Amino acid sequence: MAGGFLAEKTGVLGLPVYVLLAIAASLLVACVILALRFLRRRAAARVKHASGLIPSSNKEIAADRAPEGGAGEVEVEVEEEKKGLVGVDKGNGGKGWGESSSSLEAAERMGNIGWGRWYSVAELEAATGGFSAGNVIGEGGYGVVYRGVLPDLSVVAVKNLLNNKGQAEEEFKVEVEAIGKVRHKNLVGLVGYCAEGAKRMLVYEYMDNGNLERWLHGDVGLVSPLTWDIRMKIAIGTAKGIAYLHEGLEPKVVHRDIKSSNILLDKHWNPKVSDFGLAKLLGTDSSFVTTRVMGTFGYVAPEYACTGMLNESSDVYSFGVLLMEIISGRCPVDYSRPPGEVNLVTWFKGMVGSRHGEEVVDPSMEIQPSPRAWKRVLLVCLRCADLDAEKRLKMGQIVHMLEG
Ligand SMILES: *[C@@H]1O[C@H](CO)[C@@H](O)[C@H](O)[C@H]1NC(C)=O
Repeated sequence: MAGGFLAEKTGVLGLPVYVLLAIAASLLVACVILALRFLRRRAAARVKHASGLIPSSNKEIAADRAPEGGAGEVEVEVEEEKKGLVGVDKGNGGKGWGESSSSLEAAERMGNIGWGRWYSVAELEAATGGFSAGNVIGEGGYGVVYRGVLPDLSVVAVKNLLNNKGQAEEEFKVEVEAIGKVRHKNLVGLVGYCAEGAKRMLVYEYMDNGNLERWLHGDVGLVSPLTWDIRMKIAIGTAKGIAYLHEGLEPKVVHRDIKSSNILLDKHWNPKVSDFGLAKLLGTDSSFVTTRVMGTFGYVAPEYACTGMLNESSDVYSFGVLLMEIISGRCPVDYSRPPGEVNLVTWFKGMVGSRHGEEVVDPSMEIQPSPRAWKRVLLVCLRCADLDAEKRLKMGQIVHMLEG
């Protein structure tokens, strides 16, 4: 019966029913395929458009493309994109740039420049509440530092540079990219930068515990939260960071401004050295250097007065002063102390020379270190702060000696 119905001729060109049905079905399939293609193209265009403008969108893209990976892997990718890591210094089998080409492409479309990204003034203004006074977390020789929150909720430190040489954007970019590529667990990571008109800003990873100076000399109560072990962790990490600048890079980097306010701490007291590379970036314009040296008077190596040059031996001297500061809890120069104790290095050397070494150890530590422990560190201090630049230790040796 049914066969008879299908074979019946219809009014349309005299074709049988089954032929008409077949034609209708193939038309329907063709329409569906075309519609799907159109929709997919539109979706792709939308993603592309969004990623060019909105920073937080790379999170969506990473999530879109990792259906096989599972939540953990998505997290890793997002984290790396946010920080602009170059896959250096992970060493934990984490997913690096090389493997995740999709996120690399996404990052490139976002104005990513290899290690970090470019920010507009408007973006950083929004992140820091219009550079509000309430968001100021530091004021160094190079400029004011603000706490900022990016649209993806990551927290950063935005340094608004004061003394920029007024160099062209291109020149600034080249210098900043050199700094941005330097990555080590004991160096503060650069997340990106901003160069717009006369404005020059650097965007760094945010460090929860602020700087070491605050913890050593700030108002922390009668008992210092910095135990001997924490102080040693800070000293060793800092030494490793500087050793990397001196011995792990080509060309090597002389920091030129090592001091406690340039040692930043995360919430587990891991230290990271900040402001490296800035001496070069911001030029050696003479008035500038003078101001800065005056500012960090207590740390500068004696030969600087004669030569006006700072090399890695002078960094070692500054590290020696910093180490004295860490174990004694005293400022490098403190005019509130009796005349013989104003200059930390002079006082420290005098105390050790007259066999009163144990008295240089900060009394505000609840548990004092063993004599063996403090003697070893005292020796490192003296061998860093030697007046003769040639006799000073190298940073790599210092790491070994401190680690014992
Ligand atoms: C650094 O300069 C001083 C002289 O200013 C010199 O004695 C010392 O050897 C130099 N250090 C290095 C590592 O070149």
